[in-house]
Amino acid sequence: MRLLPHSKKTRLAMATLSPLALAMLIFAACCVLSLASGGGEWKLMKRSIGISAMHMALLPNDRVIIFDRTDFGPSNVSLPKGRCRKDPHDQALQTDCWAHSVELDLVTHAVRSLTLQTDTWCSSGALAPDGHLIQTGGFNDGERVVRTFSPCSDCDWAETPDGLAVRRWYASNQILPDGRIIVVGGRKEFSYEFVPKTDPSEQCTYPLDFLSETRDECENNLYPFVHLLPDGTLFLFSNTKAISLDYMTHRVVRTFPALSGESRNYPSTGSSAMLPLILAVNSTQPVDAEVLVCGGAPSHSNFQANKGLFLPASRTCGRIKATDDSPEWSIEAMPLNRVMGDMIMLPTGEVLIINGARKGTAGWGVGRDPVLSPVLYKPDEPIGHRFEVLSPASIPRLYHSSAHLLPDGRVLVGGSNPNMRYNFSGVLFPTELSLDIFSPPYMKLKSSRPRITSIKPGRTLSYSQHFFINIEMKEKAIKGVDTILVTMVAPSFTTHSVSMNQRLLVLTVMGLKGGHDGSYRVECVPPGSAVLAPPGYYLLYLVHGGSPSRGVWVRLR
Ligand SMILES: *[C@@H]1O[C@H](CO)[C@@H](O)[C@H](O)[C@H]1NC(C)=O
Ligand SMILES: *[C@@H]1O[C@H](CO)[C@@H](O)[C@H](O)[C@H]1NC(C)=O
Repeated sequence: MRLLPHSKKTRLAMATLSPLALAMLIFAACCVLSLASGGGEWKLMKRSIGISAMHMALLPNDRVIIFDRTDFGPSNVSLPKGRCRKDPHDQALQTDCWAHSVELDLVTHAVRSLTLQTDTWCSSGALAPDGHLIQTGGFNDGERVVRTFSPCSDCDWAETPDGLAVRRWYASNQILPDGRIIVVGGRKEFSYEFVPKTDPSEQCTYPLDFLSETRDECENNLYPFVHLLPDGTLFLFSNTKAISLDYMTHRVVRTFPALSGESRNYPSTGSSAMLPLILAVNSTQPVDAEVLVCGGAPSHSNFQANKGLFLPASRTCGRIKATDDSPEWSIEAMPLNRVMGDMIMLPTGEVLIINGARKGTAGWGVGRDPVLSPVLYKPDEPIGHRFEVLSPASIPRLYHSSAHLLPDGRVLVGGSNPNMRYNFSGVLFPTELSLDIFSPPYMKLKSSRPRITSIKPGRTLSYSQHFFINIEMKEKAIKGVDTILVTMVAPSFTTHSVSMNQRLLVLTVMGLKGGHDGSYRVECVPPGSAVLAPPGYYLLYLVHGGSPSRGVWVRLR
């Protein structure tokens, strides 16, 4: 379906080889693969940020907002300005002077503590078009709260008590073409609603039977997967079933075939990503959209794990072209079983599957056998050649861990706390306050890495209006327009293996000029409509020979 330049070339080369040579090549490749320790590199970024990175969101000022929950008891960092929070209903501390949210500066690595007044446990969020982070729901006193965080050097959380019409705990969010955010589901909430609300008449929810119908035998199907399709409907996935919802008329417009095998949503937590949307030359035209769902666990796995029997996690992915007339899931085997994996779209259009466990499920103390090795999924390769096992981490990241793509193309990984409180000893998997950085294998391809020097006319892009990217190459020369790729990645809100709003667009490149002294000018077409790419901030990358530039923030409006 897609045409990433490097794989186009590989396929061409393969086609010209004789069957014997091809067999030898495959044999050689397999041997090398089995001997190699795997690509990519891990680095400890911070030993402690004082809290456990349960939720993460990247803001356009290159700071990451991180939080866990206010009823976790004493964290390892105090609230700012000597504050304390008083809550007679708190399950851990009724007077709590400990912070449960921090801001991480990606440039200086400084951590600043932030003030949360109400409980954000297992909540959801999205970056609004103006660059404010909007967080929704949580637990207990926080279950109907909407919180906003405006990016600036000394900003703090602002909380709106009745921002949600009903309680939303374990809901999923998606930013819409009109800039609103839809909040879907949550524990015992079989409905959706929109935020922010501008007048009281909007305080209504819309029932969605799909959510009650797809619960497993333990009543669970939390954090449903939500993707905005290029036809403007929402692809909703819960456990094994998928529909597309017209959220404007509140009708289910399609029911997709069920995905065979295990359950995929909390606590049988798998992960999902919409594969890169390849924009057509006339970028208002409809484009294809494929959804990938990987990992999970048998539907009775959580029940068994709570009794001490840890069943193997799912080893499969399902991939479906949601825009087809009669779509079917194609099933692929992952190299490793995985529950609670995070799927992170890399600037190259590949998908990184990282974190999680080989056995058990999400939930307190019910994951076993951490999967330390991430795997790379290459959507363009033929089935059977799409996965690559990468270098293992040293820190297990199980329940309540998270991951996020960074502007420089590396991946921030943090969290893991399968314990009811912060617990650093006498437990199988202690609470992790650390942050790791994973460098995908492309970070090594220094000689082909481009550097974006400027974007003309500016960093605000208008739908369909051509723009130019000026780039510089230090070493290798660019051999032609089909060796580069321009991608735009929407920053996500990540928690519980779900990267809400994650979206990658492959822009049309109209031309490439220059070359002397290593500078080039690339003419691009941005997305043609807000349905393809909702308004807001994106990281723009230029990928050359599989190596991405550092991403540059652009605002689409
Ligand atoms: C957090 O604080 C606890 C209790 O004071 C301490 O035992 C633990 O080592 C600290 N953890 C880190 C990573 O700083
Ligand atoms: C940590 O977990 C162990 C095992 O469940 C328990 O005995 C201990 O009290 C916990 N510590 C804290 C600080 O909650």
